[in-house]
Amino acid sequence: MRSKLVAGNWKSNGSLVSNKSLLSALKECSIGPDVNVLVSPPFAYLSSVVEDLKGSRIEVGAQNCSAYNSGAFTGEVTAEMLKEVGVEWVIIGHSERRALFGERNEDVAAKVSKVLAAGLRPIVCVGETLDERENGRAETVCIEQLDGAMAEVKVDERWVIAYEPVWAIGTGKTASAEDAQAMHKVLRAHIRTVCGDVAEKVVILYGGSVKASNAEELFEQEDIDGALVGGASLKAEEFAAIVSAAGN
Ligand code: 13P
Repeated sequence: MRSKLVAGNWKSNGSLVSNKSLLSALKECSIGPDVNVLVSPPFAYLSSVVEDLKGSRIEVGAQNCSAYNSGAFTGEVTAEMLKEVGVEWVIIGHSERRALFGERNEDVAAKVSKVLAAGLRPIVCVGETLDERENGRAETVCIEQLDGAMAEVKVDERWVIAYEPVWAIGTGKTASAEDAQAMHKVLRAHIRTVCGDVAEKVVILYGGSVKASNAEELFEQEDIDGALVGGASLKAEEFAAIVSAAGN
């Protein structure tokens, strides 16, 4: 049995004041024994969020990291640095990083390898655009991204995959539970073909307009092991309801 994971991606949002009130509400929320929860604030707030969450079951993730070791790479934050400040997870290859900052599959693979080497766990995002879905290329695109991500290290149980169809991100349009399940099944089958039985242990999250009202139906699907939540992770009540839909 795979545990459920509910991960909040705060994207480029937050402030010292708003983080405090969000976290103090989240610390009150009840988390089922088989459910893991994490929040991913911007780099600037990581240390203070780790500090605030000490003693709670909520873990902390970053939204990106460097593809390099430390050195003359202005503006880059290494996986080792994240580890040192108490981060446990790193989101890699989010579609916003791919579309807005030119991140390629090779970059994703290099970052995953640094994350694993630092003893952190990657949450690797894949997902097709609307155009790709309408042209029947959704599966091919997601599998290409997954293969690209494992160019340096193959998927094992430390990896989490997040299927985030680009057209569902921040749009209010969620993939239907059936469509999401179908893609998760394809991804798991591909992992099984390439990496063997570990596929059964790999947590695969759905992301894209997940909210309290659709979480339960998504979580009921056989291959959906939780969610990567954007907008709704900034609202304590909404996020707590998604966490509770993952199990009590
Ligand atoms: P929304 O939940 O705001 O659609 O964002 C999803 C996402 O991109 C999480 O990484």
